[in-house]
Amino acid sequence: MDHFTLRDGELHAEDVPLAEIAAAVGTPVYVYSRATLERHARVFKAALAGLPRAHVAFAVKANPNLAVLKVMAREGLGADVVSGGELARALAAGIPASDVVFSGVGKTGAELVQGLECNLGQFNIESEEEGLELAALAAARGQRAACALRVNPDVDARTHAKISTGKAENKFGVPLDRAAAIYARLAALPGLEMRGLAVHIGSQLSELEPFEIAFAKLGALIAELRAGGQSVTHADLGGGLGVPYKAGDVFPTPEAYGAMVARATRGWDCTLMFEPGRVICGNAGVLLTRVIRVKRGGNGLPFVVVDAAMNDLARPAMYGAWHDFDAVAPTGMRMRANVVGPICETGDTFAMDREIDALEAGDLAVFRSAGAYGATMASSYNSRGFVAEVMVDGPRFAVVAERILPATITAAERVPDWLD
Ligand code: LLP
Repeated sequence: MDHFTLRDGELHAEDVPLAEIAAAVGTPVYVYSRATLERHARVFKAALAGLPRAHVAFAVKANPNLAVLKVMAREGLGADVVSGGELARALAAGIPASDVVFSGVGKTGAELVQGLECNLGQFNIESEEEGLELAALAAARGQRAACALRVNPDVDARTHAKISTGKAENKFGVPLDRAAAIYARLAALPGLEMRGLAVHIGSQLSELEPFEIAFAKLGALIAELRAGGQSVTHADLGGGLGVPYKAGDVFPTPEAYGAMVARATRGWDCTLMFEPGRVICGNAGVLLTRVIRVKRGGNGLPFVVVDAAMNDLARPAMYGAWHDFDAVAPTGMRMRANVVGPICETGDTFAMDREIDALEAGDLAVFRSAGAYGATMASSYNSRGFVAEVMVDGPRFAVVAERILPATITAAERVPDWLD
């Protein structure tokens, strides 16, 4: 459920007509609903209420905007970060360092130190090599870093190949059959406090079964580690629960996910950690865009050329992802069309041969479900700058990220005098 609804024939974000935002801020612009973010955070937490000890860390990569993170902080969520930049954002938004989990296969030495400096809650170690490096850095600083070892359970998440992370051939985690030996080796180092395991098999999962298979493997490994005398007090089950992108699609609910977790982890006696991203913020945002013109197409269908492009919302170009596309002021008339951006490549296509609301030059429309992996994956390709972001809260709204104009980007560039 979200708060982007038609009222008197006009699409609103909460109580604000989207046309009002377009008039004030221009297009394209990402619009987030505070009430939707809050609702999704609460629903997810409530779905885990039956578990003995649960800690939810919002996956910052899904939407790192400071205002969005502030909503998460106010809801008591921690943060799952994958870079020094994300760590700094989480702290800036007021998320306590103790509630931050640091994931990622390529944390640099400087990033590991940044994590140690703020005493963050848990490092999710992705390799023996990383563990050894962190141990040395921590010991040199007289610290013990709390760690979980991320394992690769070799499970097919049955999602898009580019966002699958738990197959043996993926770069993430350590293979299950080597995990116990690596865990024991790292646990013996004075710089590390090995306290558990982590797993994350992929994103936009539409079924619960792959999770359950992965969690069963994790449970078996926990038992094996304990039998070998190791202490395991934490299990990080990652994120990955998908959301419907097409009206009418049905996805497992957070409640069903919570019930599956309860079943799969019965008897583990661990603090369970979660790293949801998309399920919290995906449907809490839209990308508001204006039709530049409608041009006749060679395949008999018109091209609706909008002012948003693949640099603003990369998911369709990158994964062939579907985003529902709706007029802000639908007339009831429909058309079949191709929806494209202005960028100079065919990949800049949002929809081909799709039935949509009838649109003309100058009309406003939205790409729905753009709150996760939207603005954060933007680039300035074609020297288009970065879109603005707005958050709505009931009847009011605020710009939460200013538009970055092409001139600002150019200002950071230099022409060396030997080219003069
Ligand atoms: N934890 C880890 C270790 C992750 O790698 C990810 C996502 C998450 C948590 C959050 O997953 P979520 O709950 O959001 O599914 N750009 C892609 C998605 C990439 C996901 C990367 N990792 C997209 O637009 O679909």
